[in-house]
Amino acid sequence: MKRMILAGANGFLGGVLARYFGRRGWTIVGLTRRPGTGSVPAGVREVAWDGANVGAWAAELEGADVVVNLAGRSVDCRYTEPNRRAIWNSRVDATRAIGSAIARCQTPPAVWLNAGTATIYRHSLEQPMGEDGVIAGTPGIKDEFSVAVAQAWEAALAEAATPRTRRVSMRLAMVLGRGSEGVLPVLRRLARWGLGGTMGDGRQYVSWLHEADFCRAVEWLIEHPELAGAVNVTSPQPLPNEMMMRQLREQVRAPFGLPATKWMLEIGAIFLRTETELILKSRRVVPARLQASGFRFEFPEFAGAVADLAGPACA
Ligand SMILES: NC(=O)c1ccc[n+]([C@@H]2O[C@H](COP(=O)([O-])OP(=O)(O)OC[C@H]3O[C@@H](n4cnc5c(N)ncnc54)[C@H](OP(=O)(O)O)[C@@H]3O)[C@@H](O)[C@H]2O)c1
Repeated sequence: MKRMILAGANGFLGGVLARYFGRRGWTIVGLTRRPGTGSVPAGVREVAWDGANVGAWAAELEGADVVVNLAGRSVDCRYTEPNRRAIWNSRVDATRAIGSAIARCQTPPAVWLNAGTATIYRHSLEQPMGEDGVIAGTPGIKDEFSVAVAQAWEAALAEAATPRTRRVSMRLAMVLGRGSEGVLPVLRRLARWGLGGTMGDGRQYVSWLHEADFCRAVEWLIEHPELAGAVNVTSPQPLPNEMMMRQLREQVRAPFGLPATKWMLEIGAIFLRTETELILKSRRVVPARLQASGFRFEFPEFAGAVADLAGPACA
């Protein structure tokens, strides 16, 4: 039986992965800072860690097949100084701790997939960003902090002394899920309330991914030893915000959607305790390496993905 060590098992993506691989007979060991709270999905064996230091949990990695690290404080908050520190440290420290734990293994895991983000690339309207895309903050978009976090996160992975373990940084786009977690239910609600209009000028691209393709991409990365380093994990068809909101309105049969200008979003973001960069940055990111390796997306188009996610789940 295959064994996966899953840091962040009780988060949105951790739950999605735990259910997918659990159904396929994998043993899932979830690392969490909150053991005993019933937060990990059924069937996951939870083990305590602090997300920063090597501890007793490290023994779980011995002989495991795969480590997937999804730990990280949510970025959906105001970037105050304490929040910035938590966003940064929770990613870099957790990655370093896992690297140290793997380095101590007699039989280290064959593969280590670490979360990363498609936000690492420069704001781009015209140029699709494969893995060789430009990595840089964009002044008017105020994404310098997010790009720096993304780079520090990848550096922590690259610097780990784990030569016998293949490492992949998954540059993840926004994942669309079936349940109540993630951004899709929020967007659907806005559309139903008549607030699903264009955000900003609507030209900014949105990179996204159906949760089923996220799981299939993780499985593909595990099974393809030629894939190491940075891999964009995103659908092949990012779309402009204006088009995305129109397709969402059609899906929930909302006759209209009030647009939100940049300044309205700036004010709204303060009340919603979030940052406009999450909405206004153009992420035109494409899965160049996944596609070159032969991966086929089940849900390449946004409208098809959201229609599927509105229906019942299948195995
Ligand atoms: N969801 C997306 O669309 C998306 C897109 C791009 C990138 N990502 C990245 O993928 C990862 C997983 O995303 P998600 O949506 O599943 O996030 P999530 O639901 O917020 O879950 C994050 C997990 O990180 C752990 N965590 C939170 N704060 C922590 C801290 N200070 N130290 C250590 N662990 C901490 C939590 O576990 P415990 O509380 O049990 O310790 C939780 O299980 C994140 O790093 C996120 O930035 C996600």
